[in-house]
Amino acid sequence: MNVDVLLVGGGGREHALAWKLKQSPRIGKLYIAPGNGGTQNLGENVPIGVMEFEKLADFATEKKVHLTIVGPDDPFVGGIVDVFKQRGLRVWGPSKAAAQIEGSKAFSKQLMRDAGIPTADFSVFTNYDEAFRYVQDKGVPIVIKASGLALGKGVYVCQTLEEAAQALKEMMLDRIFKDSGTQVVIEEFLDGPEISIHAISDGRTYKLFPPTQDHKRALDGDAGKNTGGMGVIGPLPFVSDAQMSDIDDRIVKTTFDALNAKGIQFSGLLYPGLKMSSRGVKVLEYNARFGDPETQVYMRLLKTDILDIFEACVDGTLEKQPIEWNSGFAANIVLASGGYPDEYKKGLPITGIEDAEKVPGVIVFHAGTTFDGALKTSGGRVLGVSAVGTTLKEALDRAYEAVAKIHFEGMQFRRDIGAKALAA
Ligand SMILES: Nc1ncnc2c1ncn2[C@@H]1O[C@H](COP(=O)(O)OP(=O)(O)O)[C@@H](O)[C@H]1O
Ligand SMILES: [Mg+2]
Repeated sequence: MNVDVLLVGGGGREHALAWKLKQSPRIGKLYIAPGNGGTQNLGENVPIGVMEFEKLADFATEKKVHLTIVGPDDPFVGGIVDVFKQRGLRVWGPSKAAAQIEGSKAFSKQLMRDAGIPTADFSVFTNYDEAFRYVQDKGVPIVIKASGLALGKGVYVCQTLEEAAQALKEMMLDRIFKDSGTQVVIEEFLDGPEISIHAISDGRTYKLFPPTQDHKRALDGDAGKNTGGMGVIGPLPFVSDAQMSDIDDRIVKTTFDALNAKGIQFSGLLYPGLKMSSRGVKVLEYNARFGDPETQVYMRLLKTDILDIFEACVDGTLEKQPIEWNSGFAANIVLASGGYPDEYKKGLPITGIEDAEKVPGVIVFHAGTTFDGALKTSGGRVLGVSAVGTTLKEALDRAYEAVAKIHFEGMQFRRDIGAKALAA
């Protein structure tokens, strides 16, 4: 029986999920709310925002949608899954209680401390003077984080006391992140490479995906500001099976156990961001959703029908559901608007995608695009150029060959995605 699916979101992650869902032999109608210029070729874009829970639930009811899948963090933290369940609708993803692990860094840091999960040493503050005294006491470098969601902009890695004072002032006195900055987490600076772990769970069992690596800074050589992510590679040649099983035992399993002990069942995708620091592996933070742009790489590597996996999560049958991966590697290079993550122009025409997709192994995922007769930019991260290859080098070479064929005014991207992994 074919099943109709509603996918909530409109970024690169959702285009990649839609692309993979569309390949399921069981997919019926695919709706994407609100979708983007790429998803409209795979299904029907529906003009409802990701935070309009009642409208989305009305739509799912009216269209008799079999399953709703949610992409972004805000709706999970806002309780979209609880609203859908109250209305008797089948929905994939974590409850509001479970999504706190992403929505409150104060909550997740305390959970890690209580469960003995390795993470940066920290303290939580609601008072500026106390926070500043703590920073003076600890010294720099130091990391200051708004506890709540802040569109990936709420973390300041401070090299001087002046920067730290400024960060605390912006969050606690000027309240630039509103209530997201009422609580501030201050933590020790950790060195070393970052990796992304994805574990999918039905609330009873979980399964690990292969590790991937995003590149968070805007510019080559990890310079410039933190962004939503500028490019991903996977799987990672520098992470051994032994390291993955250690990460599984000491971090992933312990996290699910700690949530269960609090009476919180986590069903959905748990994505811990890790630092492979000189003092061991440490959790930087948790996300309660698929990574963006990690998903673009995962969907290129995944062999199993993703609809089967989502349904197994919702039905509580993940234990019996195999998750298989293609051999080889994938890379995804983000093409961003000039100026991102600060101010940037929108509405600029995009050319060359068709040519780019003629390069073997390449698929271009849309993120911030709209189509109004012509394809135009509409966001900070515009496109994700993904490629698969037998080797990581082949995947990267193909992706960059395709990038060279795409153009929009001010287009900005990193030329060193995966370079460190290739050199290692
Ligand atoms: N303790 C830390 N030491 C060094 N860098 C950090 C630390 N915490 C965060 N960062 C950097 O800041 C980025 C964003 O931090 P993170 O906790 O993942 O917040 P969010 O993704 O919610 O903005 C990380 O990807 C990492 O590059
Ligand atoms: Mg993060």
